[in-house]
Amino acid sequence: MNFDDFADLVRARRTNLMIDKVRDVDTDVVQKLCELSTWAPNHKRTWPWIFAELRGDARLRLGAVCADVMSRQGEPEPRVEKTRGKFARAPVVLMVGAEVGDSELRTAENRDAVSAAVQTLLLGATALGLASFWSSCPTGANDEVAAFCGFPTDTMIVAMIYLGWPLDTQQSIERPPARIMRID
Ligand SMILES: Cc1cc2nc3c(=O)[nH]c(=O)nc-3n(C[C@H](O)[C@H](O)[C@H](O)COP(=O)(O)O)c2cc1C
Repeated sequence: MNFDDFADLVRARRTNLMIDKVRDVDTDVVQKLCELSTWAPNHKRTWPWIFAELRGDARLRLGAVCADVMSRQGEPEPRVEKTRGKFARAPVVLMVGAEVGDSELRTAENRDAVSAAVQTLLLGATALGLASFWSSCPTGANDEVAAFCGFPTDTMIVAMIYLGWPLDTQQSIERPPARIMRID
């Protein structure tokens, strides 16, 4: 692969929720993407990423976990109800966690490494023609979501990724130029 091909792939990745809800994504594909993502750099070989592949009713149970937390926090009911069903918008929701480190710095590095892994995964998904959407965990729901996923205590939820086959593509948008301080 040359630089231009790689740049085309990077630019082709877009946040896209126009996803076919019924067309399945093979578990082998998800496995392949997770394995690819583990080639991301990570400090001290902590291999901090952990994944949970949610399908079927598990997506609704995740919605219930998030919605219940939001409801307890007093969030508006329409928002809570939207959350309850929203993970069914894609056939697969891939949860990505970062394990806590043995120091504050290592915990921060682990999260950075997992973010790099997520981008690698999204690029892999784009290369396979899949639509993807990186969503954050709702505020206050991290620990309950991590427990739902079967992740170790204190795992940070870095991404909730909707994955599926696109119904439509998103046009690339121009980015502001990179801000680069050049210092001799
Ligand atoms: C750490 C992170 C968290 C995100 N969380 C959300 C989210 O909770 N909801 C959402 O609509 N988009 C979320 N996004 C997606 C961004 O909104 C999206 O990447 C941005 O609009 C740029 O669009 P593009 O990915 O097509 O370039 C998140 C992106 C990142 C990097």
